[in-house]
Amino acid sequence: MSQSRRDFMKNLGVGAAGAYTATLISTRKQESIAFAAEVGLPVDEVINLANNENPMGPGKPVLDAIDRALGGHGEKPGRYPFPYTTPLNEALAAKWNVKPENVLVGAGSTQILVNATHTYTSNQKALVGSLPTYEECFGYASLVGHKTKAVPLTSTFSTDLDQTFYACKGAGMLFYCNPNNPVASLVDPAESKEFIPRVLKMNKDLRILVDEAYIDYVTTPGHETMIPQAIENPRLIVARTFSKAYGMAGLRIGYAIAHEDTVKELNKFHMGNSVSSLSYAAAIAALERDASDPSFIPNEQKRNNEARSFTRKWFHDHGYKDTEAQANFLFVDVQMPIEDFQGACRKEGVRVGRPFPPLWTHCRISIGTMEEMQKAVKVFDKVLSAAKAMAA
Ligand SMILES: Cc1ncc(COP(=O)(O)O)c(C=O)c1O
Repeated sequence: MSQSRRDFMKNLGVGAAGAYTATLISTRKQESIAFAAEVGLPVDEVINLANNENPMGPGKPVLDAIDRALGGHGEKPGRYPFPYTTPLNEALAAKWNVKPENVLVGAGSTQILVNATHTYTSNQKALVGSLPTYEECFGYASLVGHKTKAVPLTSTFSTDLDQTFYACKGAGMLFYCNPNNPVASLVDPAESKEFIPRVLKMNKDLRILVDEAYIDYVTTPGHETMIPQAIENPRLIVARTFSKAYGMAGLRIGYAIAHEDTVKELNKFHMGNSVSSLSYAAAIAALERDASDPSFIPNEQKRNNEARSFTRKWFHDHGYKDTEAQANFLFVDVQMPIEDFQGACRKEGVRVGRPFPPLWTHCRISIGTMEEMQKAVKVFDKVLSAAKAMAA
């Protein structure tokens, strides 16, 4: 075994007796360990700002629930997750004041996105969405030969509602990612409310998949979930995830809320038993915590907002513009080729987002802890100053 592989295994805690959640460490930590080994830095000196995760993780009640689901050295992991499915559906229904029939749980909201693209687009009926946007739906549509129409963003990095409206003529599904990844922008709440029924009226076959992955991080007043409309309208689906504010990206669990007929339609292509009992247990525990102490999400929003404001201010003070970030990441024009910026930051132990064509000088930077962001801006300063000196 190579030295770095040995360090990786050691850092993972493999072999530690009795520590179930110790081996269930988050994807984020595992990536940091691999990254630290690659750049030759100690693991606590690298900072991962590449994947829009919650750096705080899911919290103790959720980790305890995972431990219980593992059940010591018992039989529990040997059993299928059937006992958890109804309790989670019921807990989600109670949270959103809907029926369990309105809920479809998947292995991350990724499963919902793929399902909806499969069900509602074809080689005749296009998938419409912004360029850039989160790629899962476009990736799946291209893979299976379904038609796609990508609408460039406005000059202010917002979804172009006028062009999207025209692109939706004859289309099968609009992927409405709001806030939009990777640009972190939010459509004005009043404009969203007006646009969605208007476009559904124009194209009577159209479905809209509203992706609310980052909704908990929105600070724009007046922004609301589209869940109430989705319950009423079979052509509207809302995708939600436990991967972002709930800090459970490594556990892979998300869901759709939709009209019950739509849930039935989506269910036809739904891969059953895709979610593990550990993820179910974690999600149920997170919702129980919300019900008894609803402070987890507001605290996470506050924490993110403080670190996000700090980082945005740093960029603005140094002459770099970002979009009006409404998520747990920024999208900044670093005024240099993104691949160079990404590579130079990486060498200094900071992972930032990959390129998002066609925006070749913009970088997506996920928001870590305040301490991480304070360290990261020092690296950004070094990298950007060096690039400026080279250009001078
Ligand atoms: C907008 C958006 N939707 C969906 C997802 C997928 O999330 P999940 O982890 O729930 O599959 C992501 C992941 O980053 C995302 O950015």
